Amino acid sequence: MNWRKLRIFLVTVLVLCVIPATRYYQIDVPLLRFLGGSHVDPLSLHLSGEFVENNLGTEQDADGSVTVRMIAEQYLFVPHCILVPAGIPVHLRITSADAVHSLVFDGTEYAVKVLPGAISRAELQFPRTGEYKTVCREFCGAGHYAMRSELKVVRRDQFPALRPEERGNCAAQ
Ligand code: CUA
Repeated sequence: MNWRKLRIFLVTVLVLCVIPATRYYQIDVPLLRFLGGSHVDPLSLHLSGEFVENNLGTEQDADGSVTVRMIAEQYLFVPHCILVPAGIPVHLRITSADAVHSLVFDGTEYAVKVLPGAISRAELQFPRTGEYKTVCREFCGAGHYAMRSELKVVRRDQFPALRPEERGNCAAQ
């Protein structure tokens, strides 16, 4: 292989790596499925599977961590207010019922791109108790700027004492 061919080869490899690494969220959902990404049917989220209504919100895992399941849809996040314990790993699983959204916890560096048809996963942890505004940072339509919800971080010893329905809905606090 001469230098010219080698150079073309290296540039090609670089381009093929850089595009998926930086624009992964723009890869089409069918391609994502082909690549083995976890997927769900955005039209039947409320009917069956992991994202049915009574499965949304915060769930305590056997190892002491918690899992939060959410749906992003025009123009709200469901549940509208979520509760998590402080200083405990939070496994977030979120999908979209319609457009592409981006879930951002204001005041943190966490930002999660949410696509219809795919489950976005993120590992979060909130060291201190407090309240965070949850906002959408991806323009998703007319109501985008009103797409807001809340995250409350409570003491880690307070959380296990809550009833399951209180964990998923801050209004009960
Ligand atoms: Cu959802 Cu912007």
